[in-house]
Amino acid sequence: MKNQPIGVFDSGVGGLTVLRTLIERLPYESYIYLGDTARLPYGTKTGETVTRYALQASAALVDRGIKALVIACNTASAYALPALRQRYPGMPVIGVIEAGAEEACQVSRSGRIAVMSTDSTARSGAYPAAILKVRPRAQIVSIACSLLVALAEEGWTEGSIVGQVLEKYLSPAFARDPPDTVVLGCTHFPVLKREIETVLGPDIALVDSGSTAAAFVEQTLRKAGELANGKTQTDIRFLATDGSDRFARVAQAFLGSSIRALAIETIDLSPFSRVD
Ligand code: DGL
Repeated sequence: MKNQPIGVFDSGVGGLTVLRTLIERLPYESYIYLGDTARLPYGTKTGETVTRYALQASAALVDRGIKALVIACNTASAYALPALRQRYPGMPVIGVIEAGAEEACQVSRSGRIAVMSTDSTARSGAYPAAILKVRPRAQIVSIACSLLVALAEEGWTEGSIVGQVLEKYLSPAFARDPPDTVVLGCTHFPVLKREIETVLGPDIALVDSGSTAAAFVEQTLRKAGELANGKTQTDIRFLATDGSDRFARVAQAFLGSSIRALAIETIDLSPFSRVD
């Protein structure tokens, strides 16, 4: 299994921020990235729908012979992780929430932690549950910032409009007893990091749950003796459920380099609907 690819799944291109960290940390691994672009956003949908979509997308990756599955989507991690672990008991299935929660608990001095996420992730209560497990006296404020997903998709990552939207979302949580740590609990938010830092100022620590998850993936594969043993360049394949041209265009902002449209295969997940 060592040289089989790692499957990375997100509702769209946002998980490429996680893939980028994975490639930096584990450059000799191969990856298959699946963006369920036809059904994005997940962040406004119910837990049942998100779980069903996640099971189908994961089945498509497992079908391609992956050795581990990374749920590079906070919303899918919030709802579908137990179902996925049950479905694939022999395979490491790693989400982004536990890693982000642990890092936030380590970084925060006051124990006051804000979590920026999609509406569905906020509603799931998954971050507060994961944080309280590590730090039972933590005070957590969940901030649903669904509009930021659209801004990131549009490539609007800086400037006055983004600043105003962030102010609107963040200022209520900072009016009294401000948190000292903010978790970027959505894979789209790291591309807005510079603007978020500008709005919050230098004293607030930002935790990117995606990049902390990459360290979890490394630990998990090392423990299982499943790290790739080659020393050759990473092979990366991209799958999207809709529009490879748009995927390639938006992906550049997330991956930080260009992806040839040719390298993206458009797939249909309907054959995997039997897994529900
Ligand atoms: N990938 C999703 C997440 O991390 C954000 C995009 C969406 O709403 O589908 O929560």
